[in-house]
Amino acid sequence: MTAATIDKTTATGRVVWFTGLSGAGKSTLANALHAELLARGVSVELLDGDAVRENLCRGLGFSREDRDTNIRRIGFVAGLLAKHGVTVLVSAISPYADTRRDVLTGLPNALEVFVDAPLEVVTGRDVKGLYLKALAGEIPHFTGVSDPYEAPTTPDLHLRTDRISVQEGVQELLRSLGEA
Ligand code: ADX
Repeated sequence: MTAATIDKTTATGRVVWFTGLSGAGKSTLANALHAELLARGVSVELLDGDAVRENLCRGLGFSREDRDTNIRRIGFVAGLLAKHGVTVLVSAISPYADTRRDVLTGLPNALEVFVDAPLEVVTGRDVKGLYLKALAGEIPHFTGVSDPYEAPTTPDLHLRTDRISVQEGVQELLRSLGEA
């Protein structure tokens, strides 16, 4: 695991960007961190891919273009919130390295968190039952099965969710945020 600490001396909120395969544990970690930060009185908001796709990004699909639009919109909103001192937790596959880099570079205080578990593990978990369908060819362009996932090569934090517990992950995240 690698770690980097965010500079808390500015008034700008931080953006914790969780990227990884569906079922890797992005939302689980983001939700647990959200609860922990709320309990500490931190002003924090969660932008979750599934929820965002029901409103802000309703109608977008999973082509590269649509995924990029999704990610850029999320980045835009995250930037607005962060400008007002809100800590933003983003949970989205965000599969394309170039787009992630573009969006994250545009955010002043961002932390890229690679939520990583091998494909065998996430297909085994199959929390939403989507891998079974994707592997049967029923969902085209499914990330990790029939669509690419470009893993970060130098994430600020790399969490192997098949090796650590949610609580351990949250501790790592809090350390990176200078909140431990
Ligand atoms: S992203 O690629 O644009 O970042 P996002 O995180 O918003 O994706 O949405 C991913 C979620 O959409 C998955 O967790 C899954 O529930 C659902 N989904 C539906 N179709 C696909 C697909 N083809 N590839 C990946 N996820 C899909």
